[in-house]
Amino acid sequence: MQVTVKTTKIEKQKAGCLLLGAAEGKLQSMTLKGLAPEFAAVLKKSAAREKFSGKTGQLLELTAPADCRADRLLLIGLGEEKSTTGETLRRAVGTAVQRLQKVHEHDLVIAFDTFPLRKTAPAGRAEALTEGALLGDYRFDRYQTEEKEADANTPVRVSLLVAARDLIEVETGVAVAEAVSAGTILARDLVNEPGNIKSPEYLASQAQKMCSDVGLECTVLGHRELEKEKMGAMLGVAQGSVREPRLIVMQYHGASAGQKPIALVGKGVVFDSGGISIKPSEGMEEMKMDMGGAAAVIGTMLAAARLKLPCNLVGVVPAVENMPSGTAIRPGDILTSHSGKTIEVVNTDAEGRLILADAISYVRRFEPVEVIDLATLTGACIIALGHHATALLGNDTRLIGKLLRAGEASGERLWQLPLWEEYNEQIKSCVADVKNVGGRPGGTITAAAFIQKFAEGLNWVHLDIAGTGWEEKGCPCYSFGGTGVGVRLLSRYLRDL
Ligand code: BES
Ligand code: ZN
Ligand code: ZN
Repeated sequence: MQVTVKTTKIEKQKAGCLLLGAAEGKLQSMTLKGLAPEFAAVLKKSAAREKFSGKTGQLLELTAPADCRADRLLLIGLGEEKSTTGETLRRAVGTAVQRLQKVHEHDLVIAFDTFPLRKTAPAGRAEALTEGALLGDYRFDRYQTEEKEADANTPVRVSLLVAARDLIEVETGVAVAEAVSAGTILARDLVNEPGNIKSPEYLASQAQKMCSDVGLECTVLGHRELEKEKMGAMLGVAQGSVREPRLIVMQYHGASAGQKPIALVGKGVVFDSGGISIKPSEGMEEMKMDMGGAAAVIGTMLAAARLKLPCNLVGVVPAVENMPSGTAIRPGDILTSHSGKTIEVVNTDAEGRLILADAISYVRRFEPVEVIDLATLTGACIIALGHHATALLGNDTRLIGKLLRAGEASGERLWQLPLWEEYNEQIKSCVADVKNVGGRPGGTITAAAFIQKFAEGLNWVHLDIAGTGWEEKGCPCYSFGGTGVGVRLLSRYLRDL
């Protein structure tokens, strides 16, 4: 999708659809800047007739009056003015774009000034609106040959109609949103790709392709190198699958060589059957999304490169498939991890923490200033927080605070869970240094407590995206499937540094 910026007068602008935002109860008193009085009068009259009050997500579709060059007008409710956020604007445009796709309208012009946002400069508003358009327009349709023919999936062309004084700022905002959305869309594509295609090798090749496109360094370790590195926990998980594991290492240099990098680590289980502790068949198809953390890291590396952020980053993805077979690890097996610590594998379905342990231990060689890991780690996280917040746990209060703020600002919200010493009791093993499950109570916390053992001495935060990485039904503004969560959050965090 292409997003352009224009400074034409509203009525002069040719458009398939002209989109106007209206806060709740504000339409009747709204002075529609740049809109001819007759035009505004028609709008207000129709809104009154259709009982359009401006509630969040409410839509009113009209044929444009004769003196307007748009074919149709779409009015979207923004809800209460005082509670409007960037996410409100994103969702509004996302909803409009999805509506237009349904009626095969592919030309959208957004009246920028009808989407105000308190304390936010034009660049920030443009960013939110553009993200809403790009992410709302997204769908994973590469395997839908029949629907494609019906042109329902043609992308929508979007223009922002702005006052001349805002032009430069808005263009900057659009460019930022395009970079971040490209990262999010790449992450979604990777998550949505089915397991038969998505081997660890496939994930590595996609990462390599992205890196060569934007000039990042990329190294991929195969089975033999992983053995040499003694990545025993990661190799343990991989050994049940005929597909070989890969460790993907991406590096972005945006600051001086002396500056220590921030490390991003993403769980890359391309398919999680549970292994010998096999999962129930119902819903197992969703477990192709168990590399959402990896996708977020790959997507963020792309966004960082496109934004030319002034920092150094290293992105590490342990990519494996978790399968049951004659060569798979068994419950009761003891693995020696990269760090040298031994792990009793009580449940082979708690595989994510095993590969993260080795990947975090591996990134120490880069002497990172901080390590942020992202993983679809625990079902317990969905029980605790549902689908509207990513769980955050860690050992660095400052980093935690900054990430929480980035979560609010980006719309990818985080909620902190405690990581008190007492939880370590649950993962003590009688036969090894640690065991990989801590029982049902506080499952998200004990998983993080396990990872913490491998992050000793590092400034570290863990993000459990099990509940936020996958959209089950599809909502008015986002399509069904992978959400690409983490890319907007981390891009925001890195930009604010
Ligand atoms: N990949 C799953 C967690 C998951 C569940 C992600 C649902 C997304 C949606 C993870 O590997 C897993 O199976 N965790 C187990 C851990 C348990 C055995 C301690 C779980 O949560 O049940
Ligand atoms: Zn699992
Ligand atoms: Zn898993």
